[in-house]
Amino acid sequence: MKILFYGTKNYEKEVFEKHCKDKKDLEIVYLQSEFDYQTARLSNGYDAICIFVNTEVDARSVKRLKENQVKLILLRCAGYNNVDLQACRQENICVMRVPNYSPQAVAEMAMGLALAVNRKIHKAYIKVRENNFALTGLSGFNFYGKTAGIVGAGKIGLAMAKICNGFGMKVIAYDKYPQKSNDIEYVDLPELLKRSDLISLHCPLIGDTYHLINEETIAMMKDGVILVNTSRGGLIKTDDLIKGIRDKKFFGVALDVYEEEDDYVFENLEDDILEHSTTARLLSFPNVIVTSHQGFLTQEALNAIAETTIDNAISFQCGKLIEENKMC
Ligand code: NAI
Repeated sequence: MKILFYGTKNYEKEVFEKHCKDKKDLEIVYLQSEFDYQTARLSNGYDAICIFVNTEVDARSVKRLKENQVKLILLRCAGYNNVDLQACRQENICVMRVPNYSPQAVAEMAMGLALAVNRKIHKAYIKVRENNFALTGLSGFNFYGKTAGIVGAGKIGLAMAKICNGFGMKVIAYDKYPQKSNDIEYVDLPELLKRSDLISLHCPLIGDTYHLINEETIAMMKDGVILVNTSRGGLIKTDDLIKGIRDKKFFGVALDVYEEEDDYVFENLEDDILEHSTTARLLSFPNVIVTSHQGFLTQEALNAIAETTIDNAISFQCGKLIEENKMC
């Protein structure tokens, strides 16, 4: 089976090559170019393409893949909201993903961000490098004994709940479809917002969660709350968040994901993007940390992603599809 790998990063290539060593039937060609309607042409002669989370696969590109006789789209990620599944179904192109690679990787990042913005590690790091050892402006608060509010208690949310329990926090959660758990008290969203000292977002971005955090829901939060988002940028209405930060609602805000992420996949940003960018405005606040969607980026998660993606390819090849990874 021939697979064309789009948007390759060195750290991924290394891991995939390691896992493919003994898979003689798989031939992977690694491209740095991202997948789009133009680069879809390059798939001629390949059985499958492999793409990452922010890649858009619209109906036009699906048609082009079909013309090139591509039969399988391998998503080396969990999210599939950028793929037109209906178009894939129509063209009889199978889509497979990696639904569960390492919830702990993302949850640990969420707690890392919460701690950093609370204890001002981002500021301290820069101050000390400038030989400024003064402590002014660096005080935080103990997480011990405080309340953590988890929005979306799925795989990552539950892993985050365990970490918060370990810190001696009281954990409450809001989930549209709550599971049974002894570690968590489930509450409705307004109660979670009212009671939490730390709010961490872990629900998917779907119709009813788009802009879940907005002027109205921010107003329900405690003053001095810490807000962490490692899920999807669209969960937060950024303009309203900026207003809340200006009104001194938040002790800190830490975002691994943000609304303008698609404009930020490039390494050198153009000035006109920066001028109108809400992300650049966010970065101007000292109590805000932004990272570039790296929650998944651990060795364990990368290994799990490679392993499952290769299993998906092999299962397709031998006609024994791994059903839980198949989207269509
Ligand atoms: P999951 O499917 O295990 O959990 C999601 C939870 O959200 C479920 O319990 C579900 O019932 C709940 N939910 C669904 N609709 C809801 C609503 N309207 N309101 C409240 N809760 C709702 O997903 P998992 O694996 O925990 O991932 C969560 C999110 O994390 C993903 O959707 C993805 O956006 C993000 N993610 C971020 C990564 C990063 O690198 N920063 C990496 C991987 C995932």
